[in-house]
Amino acid sequence: MSDYSLNLHRISPHVGAEVRDIDITRPLSNSQVSELHRALGEFGVLFFRDQRFDHDAQKRFGRYFGELDIHPNTPGPEGHPEILPIHADAQSKIIAGEKWHSDVSCHQEPPLGSILHLHTVPPLGGDTLFASLAAAYDALSPRLKAYLEGLTAFHSGERNYRNRNRLNGVDDRGRVFPSATHPVVVRHPISGRRGLYVNRLFTYRINEVSEEESEAVLNFLFQHTEKADFQIRFQWRKDSVAFWDNRAVQHLAIWDYFPHTRTGSRVTIKGERLAA
Ligand code: SIN
Repeated sequence: MSDYSLNLHRISPHVGAEVRDIDITRPLSNSQVSELHRALGEFGVLFFRDQRFDHDAQKRFGRYFGELDIHPNTPGPEGHPEILPIHADAQSKIIAGEKWHSDVSCHQEPPLGSILHLHTVPPLGGDTLFASLAAAYDALSPRLKAYLEGLTAFHSGERNYRNRNRLNGVDDRGRVFPSATHPVVVRHPISGRRGLYVNRLFTYRINEVSEEESEAVLNFLFQHTEKADFQIRFQWRKDSVAFWDNRAVQHLAIWDYFPHTRTGSRVTIKGERLAA
């Protein structure tokens, strides 16, 4: 793309670009990092092929963009608390990300982004869908945009994490999971674009209206944001990497490959409080 020295290829009208001819497993220059940062803000999700990350290289890449987060529910492997293992096989009862969501939107300061590397992929399937929050917002009518102005929503990790723990046989009694209130419409800290920041996994209710109205409005917004028009569907290969901005997209992992195995690891970059 003309104003980047990175070899970037846009792959859908609203969201997603593939970055070619770069080895992100090795140290990067300042100009590469600043272009990747700009591209992330512009495209919402960046894809890379043939990147053989080990945990240290994946953490080094993540740290170019901010401090790494430690997941509030799932501990990382020995010596790598910042690594979130992503794994499904014939024994799995649930997978990560099977409902549309922005990662850990229940944090007071939700993550800037997530970097997922898969080293084992199923023979077919296991794609991830990404949807642009700005494209979804832009497609709303001016009347609905005016209605949403100034509204906030309550997000919590309680339901999602307890459900996962129950299915995985993890005793989480006594644990407290994060919760937060965010604007329903947020302004993206890099691009300045407005986006719909509600998702099925973590958003419970809109605070300023009755429960009944909140449920109806949220259901509409969930369905609207998940429309195919705003999406890109990424087909993984061994050693593909996806780097997404959680304030620009929400995503969904498809579990259509059971009983095959799909394995990799994610690092998550800390973010900031979101502004309306
Ligand atoms: C996630 O939500 O981070 C998992 C995404 C995936 O496995 O494709």
